[in-house]
Amino acid sequence: MKLSGQTAIITGAARGIGAACASRLAQEGANVVLVDLLSSEETVNKIVQANPNIKACFHEVDIRERAQVQKVMDDTISEFGRIDIVVNNAGSCGRIDLEEMTDDIWERDMNTNLKGTFLFTQLAIYPHMKNQGYGRIVNVSSVSGIIGGYSSTTDGSTKGRSGPAYAASKGGVIAFSKWVAKEVGPLGICVNSVAPGPIETEMTKGFNYNLDLQAVKQVGTPEDIAEAVYYFASPASRYTTGQVLKVCGGSAIG
Ligand SMILES: NC(=O)c1ccc[n+]([C@@H]2O[C@H](COP(=O)([O-])OP(=O)(O)OC[C@H]3O[C@@H](n4cnc5c(N)ncnc54)[C@H](O)[C@@H]3O)[C@@H](O)[C@H]2O)c1
Repeated sequence: MKLSGQTAIITGAARGIGAACASRLAQEGANVVLVDLLSSEETVNKIVQANPNIKACFHEVDIRERAQVQKVMDDTISEFGRIDIVVNNAGSCGRIDLEEMTDDIWERDMNTNLKGTFLFTQLAIYPHMKNQGYGRIVNVSSVSGIIGGYSSTTDGSTKGRSGPAYAASKGGVIAFSKWVAKEVGPLGICVNSVAPGPIETEMTKGFNYNLDLQAVKQVGTPEDIAEAVYYFASPASRYTTGQVLKVCGGSAIG
């Protein structure tokens, strides 16, 4: 129970990687606050059943909206008194070529993946983590943000490669994390990124990945990512900040 008495906010936690992260942190004793556009009620119920010693709640929130993010912070402080961990995981992915990219999809992906990460990071650190002299921010990026879009195929008409807004926003998440890590290291706050490769979730449903390109010949699970997130979220990562851990089955070694 390494996170006993701590409070963690996890975005995009209704399902997929976010739900696995919330569950993993609860398993270590953290109280968890699940944030999503969708209802996280079912996920919260499962977490509490499996971990009756912790408290869990959810907020139906659009992470692109500052006022809604501020309310999550205020409610979390009212209920739990502190914010130790933020996992910025919510994401959207337009699989669209540059030629076909619209302003709407560009703004949706940039604002969800990058602005949402900025808002939760800013409002958790200032003033809460700063006043505590402790905090862990873990940002879920993507291998797409390192290599410039990850290829997959489908039998249908939808194109498989993650699009330019997704790649740009996920690359931005890594640069932003490094910037903030330098700023808040003296305050006892660590900021790191996890960059998943192909993981079996709603986001990748119907897309096929070429496992010949991977050293580990499997698509990953949300739990694979949750293990990496747990390390960065825990006190054990105290001397590690501004780093990116690729959890991608060795599809992007180097
Ligand atoms: N699945 C993969 O292969 C893969 C690979 C690399 C990175 N990622 C990243 O992992 C994260 C989790 O993705 P996932 O695979 O679990 O997909 P998912 O679609 O199952 O989960 C994403 C969640 O984010 C929520 N969300 C989207 N926009 C939101 C908004 N504006 N406000 C609040 N919530 C919002 C969705 O409702 C959803 O529950 C994403 O950031 C994604 O880019 C996934």
